[in-house]
Amino acid sequence: MSVLLLRGRVLSFRTRPESVDDRAAYVFEEDGGVLVRDGRIAAVGDFAAVAAEAAGARVVDHRPHLILPGFIDAHVHMPQMQVIASYGAELLDWLNTYTFPEETRFRDSQHGRRIARLFLDEMIRHGTTTVAAFCSVHRESADAFFAEALARNMRVVAGKVMMDRNAPEGLRDTPQSGYDDSKALIGEWHGKGRLHYAITPRFAITSSPEQMEAAGALAAEFPALHIQTHLSENHAEIALTRELYPEARDYTDVYARYGLLRQRTLLGHCIHLDAREADAIHEAGATAVFCPTSNLFLGSGLFDWQGYSRRAKPLRIAAATDVGGGTSYSMLRTMDEAYKVIALQGEKMNPLAAFWQITLGNAEALSLGTHVGTLEPGMDADIVVLDARATPAMRLRMERVETLAQELFLLQTLGDDRAIAETYVAGQPARSMLAGAGKE
Ligand code: GUN
Ligand code: ZN
Repeated sequence: MSVLLLRGRVLSFRTRPESVDDRAAYVFEEDGGVLVRDGRIAAVGDFAAVAAEAAGARVVDHRPHLILPGFIDAHVHMPQMQVIASYGAELLDWLNTYTFPEETRFRDSQHGRRIARLFLDEMIRHGTTTVAAFCSVHRESADAFFAEALARNMRVVAGKVMMDRNAPEGLRDTPQSGYDDSKALIGEWHGKGRLHYAITPRFAITSSPEQMEAAGALAAEFPALHIQTHLSENHAEIALTRELYPEARDYTDVYARYGLLRQRTLLGHCIHLDAREADAIHEAGATAVFCPTSNLFLGSGLFDWQGYSRRAKPLRIAAATDVGGGTSYSMLRTMDEAYKVIALQGEKMNPLAAFWQITLGNAEALSLGTHVGTLEPGMDADIVVLDARATPAMRLRMERVETLAQELFLLQTLGDDRAIAETYVAGQPARSMLAGAGKE
């Protein structure tokens, strides 16, 4: 039985911090200890107190770094690693010009295995321990993704996309094959290790009404599963959706009509919702996923993070990279851009809230808060260690930093994968074991 005691400056959130002075929203130990046993957290607190109960544990001293729950990326596309940084298009052109042709390559299962491996390497390099990921339409791409995540013992949510129209040959399933392949994948992977299957109709434009019905049938058969899709990202997308589903009241209603709007439904983007749609999402308990780097890169619009959470019927919100529409694998870079998106709307996101969002906030928005997102006894030992002096510029700026909130804001504003000193997955130091990662 391996027992590990991590020493460092331990930070874990209790609730969403309302301001930088909201001390009740988090637990912080300046000289803290996190005891890890069998992949779970066994104790957390003042280092001396935890050490006294942990005779024989191997101590890893991460001081002066911060120790937080591993980051969670609530919406990301595994088959788009070679799409990221594609120039000059808005959503629908970007899909047709770059994304769909690239995703057709995943009919080759060897390619899928290679990219799945490199994708999870990249997540770990960036301190992300849980993802909600879209695979390609090919069943084999989801097999590859789950096999790779299982080998690393990661907690992931993923699914094969269902798409049967408005996409090229080689990237379309059918209502029946999409249903059958998804069901087979659920049987093969869901509940194995820490794997969760998500029913994944790509979006209304690429699914016929018959396929939406098949996705709804799956959702009814498996009421505890996640569902992930895209909603209200771009004006041309919204207009086309309304043409394709004229009977629906609005875009959100398309999903609701097929039984796809419920708790554990993850709705990527949600930028241009009207009040009725936001109310419907609130009432269903579904989650709106904020993808700032993607929303800026594709020119999609500004997500109203503050407004959505202040409504009388507030939305559950998660944050995500949305690689490859998104431009960074890093949740630090993602929250830097989130801060700017909110600034453009005349508001400020406090840095404690940003780190709450990418840990506990995302865990709760994904209904995974009993497993990940905090450092508490019984939780999965998925942990990130952050170095606020990782680069010369950060080191210099740190000379003027006096508070925890300032240090977090520096990490978010200047940090990237270089600021990730270590990533633990189920108690294993996964980042430092990446030696040679990125090579073939
Ligand atoms: N809508 C449907 N598919 C996609 C995708 O792959 N990326 C983004 N950003 N939006 C989508
Ligand atoms: Zn997406």
